[in-house]
Amino acid sequence: MKREDIIVAPSIFAADFGRLADEAKRCEDAGADCIHVDIMDGHFVPNLTLGPRALAAINRATNLFLDVHIMIYNPFDFVEPLVQSGADRITFHFEATEQIEEILSYIRRSNVQAGLAFCPETPADFALRYLDQCDLLLMMTVPPGFGGQQFDESVLEKVTFLREEIDRRGLRASGVVPKKGELLPPFPIQVDGGVDDKTAKACVKAGANVLVAGTYLFEHESMEKRIQTLRGCSE
Ligand code: DX5
Ligand code: ZN
Repeated sequence: MKREDIIVAPSIFAADFGRLADEAKRCEDAGADCIHVDIMDGHFVPNLTLGPRALAAINRATNLFLDVHIMIYNPFDFVEPLVQSGADRITFHFEATEQIEEILSYIRRSNVQAGLAFCPETPADFALRYLDQCDLLLMMTVPPGFGGQQFDESVLEKVTFLREEIDRRGLRASGVVPKKGELLPPFPIQVDGGVDDKTAKACVKAGANVLVAGTYLFEHESMEKRIQTLRGCSE
């Protein structure tokens, strides 16, 4: 993976929730490529976070692409309010619904990108049949629900397997206009949970190109330096 193909997404979950607008601005000033916004329902995962109104507030504070990760049952119900609130991509969980294809296509028809997320213990082959119908795969590298957990190395071999399959099929990123004569960027495989300078290297080596990081980026005085470090994990 080339350095310019690595996308760094600070997870606002690790931000100071009393200053969400400032924290969103901080991500922008630090050179983040997008902001990852975790939405939880207290059922699919044992925690609660933000909803559409808070997403709208983040959207007002920044021009960054909003990468919304919903850890909720009944994802259908929240697509429209999240799109209205400024979501640019909505990623829902494979484990949360039986209507995967319908929801992927509904999200895409709402003119935002559709991502599909997998918990660490879910077999990677379940992703194969949806590769042509989604814009991103999210491989959770911790059990969803909390920040600051320990990275699960067993997910790396799934990332390798999926990248090989994606390359074999020649899939590239959707929704991006390539420069003349250039290839589209690689299809996005996102990793989320316990990502820091060491684990990011292993993720990129395995084939991930979108790095979500909460604790590692927010709990440092220079988010910018840490973003650069994560981008440098490709070298
Ligand atoms: C966990 C969330 C993550 C979380 C990552 O369910 O999906 O986005 O914020 O936090 P860190 O990077 O601290 O593990
Ligand atoms: Zn997340």
